[in-house]
Amino acid sequence: MNARNTKHILGLFLLGGLITFSSCSEKQSKKTPQNNRDITVSGTMDAELTAPPFVPKPTKDRKATKLKVDMEILELEGELVDGVQYMFWTFDGSVPGSFIRAKLGDEIEFHLKNHPDNKLPHNIDLHAVNGPGGGAESSFVAPGQEKAFSFKALNPGLYVYHCAVAPVGMHIANGMYGLILVEPEEGLAPVDKEYYIMQGDFYTEGSFGDRGMQEFSMEKAINEMPDYVVFNGNVNSMTGDNALTAEVGETVRLFVGNGGPNLISSFHVIGEIFDRVHVEGGDLINENVQTTLIPAGGAAIVEFKVDAPGTYTLVDHSIFRAFNKGALAMLKVSGDQNEEVFAGEVYEGIYLPEGGAIQKMPTPKNADGKEEIKATSLEERITFGKDVYNRTCVACHQSNGQGIAAAFPPLAASDYLNENVERSIETVLFGLSGEITVNGEVYNSVMTSQGLTDEQTANVLTYIYNNWDNKAQEVTPEMVSKIRNQ
Ligand code: CU
Repeated sequence: MNARNTKHILGLFLLGGLITFSSCSEKQSKKTPQNNRDITVSGTMDAELTAPPFVPKPTKDRKATKLKVDMEILELEGELVDGVQYMFWTFDGSVPGSFIRAKLGDEIEFHLKNHPDNKLPHNIDLHAVNGPGGGAESSFVAPGQEKAFSFKALNPGLYVYHCAVAPVGMHIANGMYGLILVEPEEGLAPVDKEYYIMQGDFYTEGSFGDRGMQEFSMEKAINEMPDYVVFNGNVNSMTGDNALTAEVGETVRLFVGNGGPNLISSFHVIGEIFDRVHVEGGDLINENVQTTLIPAGGAAIVEFKVDAPGTYTLVDHSIFRAFNKGALAMLKVSGDQNEEVFAGEVYEGIYLPEGGAIQKMPTPKNADGKEEIKATSLEERITFGKDVYNRTCVACHQSNGQGIAAAFPPLAASDYLNENVERSIETVLFGLSGEITVNGEVYNSVMTSQGLTDEQTANVLTYIYNNWDNKAQEVTPEMVSKIRNQ
């Protein structure tokens, strides 16, 4: 080995040393879970907890602290959609459970209470925990018991928590999940609006919309065939008057989780592009994203500026889940139109492709051979019919039956309906296409067959006939059956 070579090798050694040193210092400047253990805490505070769709105030520049979280498990009867009851198991009485907002380095003292009226033991597994079971073993509580455990938040990010008592899938399927955010030291950048949304799949003995108390179906859960896929535990949790709101020009941040237990969410906002996505709730930022995948037991933070007024629809883009199983929410944006961003309607006409035959929805079978709950009075028929209307008809014919000009005829004070009840029944059963005249206006669009049972058809028509200045009359399932079979 000559001197020159020695020098060369020495140079390589030095270079190697430099590389090692610089990558080491880079690591140190970016905190790791290891050195996050050294973040000291000062003082104590009670965590602000919020029910969805709201989130607690940002931690901003507050220092790491001893954060006390108090949660109560409640087994509660609630609704999946109007008229459909379900026994939810919840953290703090909501699905998803309360949102927890912590800071990197916080020492979290977690108190879990199981209400004495509950029937079952529960616990909590927080994905933000570094430790066995995410706290599950330390937090196992029987009804009427309270447990406490503590952990240090070592990793920033958005994490799912859930119950992990066997059968785990069943506890999650009944609504036992939520989100905990661990903000980085400097906090998240300020935005104008923040909301909390969590998807979940539900498995009931009956089919979607079957009235009455619905039991959990273990068979459907194992087969991963949910009847409901919803945001925040209810089909209408964020629609109509419950819609999320923002103003034109505001930046909206959504903390989106997926409790599962089974399905992966293809989260999308119709009419928006996510400016920034914290992929899987972690540090990685992706920009200009149309749809982001949220795994079961995972989360994402999405941010977007709203540029044009109107109603934006949040969906799982596995789209039958959105329009047939409930995975749909709304964001209403108010403010002035900005023509440069969105010019709105520039042309309107009827487009009917050749042979535009009426599509038929499958004729429903009574769910799993279970007896359909039947209305026993005119009053009940109207009430049941209203639920069918709100699930099936409202998108086209609108909430007060006013219809949409030039597209969908009004059902309110409708001469077409009031003239001929048999024709109305036929329309709901078999659909309708071609030109019709309603209250002097010509309509030429397509209505699909709605695939309702005789009972549902009778109920919805009775609701329509007994509202909005129509000729009050009852449509019975017998009248429907006669027309279906003729
Ligand atoms: Cu549980």
